[in-house]
Amino acid sequence: MARVLSRLVWLGVVALVLWGCQSGPKPIPEVIVVAPETEVGAVDFRKDVVPVLEKRCLGCHFDHAPLTALSFQRRKNMLEESNGRPVLVPGDPQHSTLFLVTVMPDYFVEAMPAGGHKLSKQETDKLYHWIAAGAPWPEGLVLQPVAPL
Ligand code: HEC
Repeated sequence: MARVLSRLVWLGVVALVLWGCQSGPKPIPEVIVVAPETEVGAVDFRKDVVPVLEKRCLGCHFDHAPLTALSFQRRKNMLEESNGRPVLVPGDPQHSTLFLVTVMPDYFVEAMPAGGHKLSKQETDKLYHWIAAGAPWPEGLVLQPVAPL
């Protein structure tokens, strides 16, 4: 009996080690997102979303930034992947890391903006509805960091 038990323990140890050695993109932690109930009305990208991105995200996420290779200056930048996950999936906030990281509790390392000071519920709701509406972006618009870090 003791032998069987010790074999089981070893199996467990091996399984844990193998699990820990898994390579490849780390799955984003499960975040349960409840679609905002309040009807925010049509989201105006320039008025409602651009200021939030420029003030709260672009400070780190600009072209050739020192902290991250992920720039949010252009829509096409957002359509690239980060850590094997899509950053922006137009029409699907639930699978857009750009949105998920803003609604994660602070104890996730992925929570954004890095360093705290979370976006308000109103701001994340706007982000949600902008993505759900297909993430429209005026042709040629390039966002600018308000205060590059
Ligand atoms: C103080 C600097 C800073 C600010 C402000 C900031 N970020 Fe980040 N962000 C980082 C760093 C550093 C990383 C990690 C490096 C990387 O994966 O490229 C990162 C990574 C990310 C990722 C990739 C996550 C992943 O695991 O793939 C997303 C999406 C993101 N940030 C979104 C945002 C959004 C949205 C905002 C604004 C609400 C924001 N960030 C504000 C520094 C910042």
